[in-house]
Amino acid sequence: MKLWTARIAGGIAVAAGLVCLLALPAAAQDGKALYVEKGCPTCHGPDGATTIAPNYPKLKGQNADYIAVQLKAFRSGERKGPQVALMAPMALTLTDPESELIAKYLQDAQ
Ligand code: HEC
Repeated sequence: MKLWTARIAGGIAVAAGLVCLLALPAAAQDGKALYVEKGCPTCHGPDGATTIAPNYPKLKGQNADYIAVQLKAFRSGERKGPQVALMAPMALTLTDPESELIAKYLQDAQ
């Protein structure tokens, strides 16, 4: 009986360990997944480096803090310019934490 309980407990511990291992890379991927889900690649390219128009900004490798601040500025209407109308509606689909996740992903994108 004791052995049986120990086996179950061991099984649960192993399963919990596996769940942790699987959850870690998933968390690291959140920014990338959001970038895709929110439709950002349409204009900025799959990795943020190949834009659909030469006057659209490349985002890959940009500082995360800068990106997050710009996304906020699009949302608040603080950022002005001839192309803001293209980007502001996109930024409005993001929360602050989502912007930060995407910003981190773009900064570290290889
Ligand atoms: C319809 C095309 C389009 C889509 C889709 C789009 N963007 Fe943009 N984005 C632009 C354009 C155009 C600009 C330049 C705006 C300007 O100059 O004010 C821009 C600017 C930006 C900037 C500022 C870059 C800088 O150097 O200041 C960031 C950050 C950004 N986009 C992130 C995103 C993210 C994140 C998404 C997805 C949620 C997204 N964009 C989706 C067209 C798009």
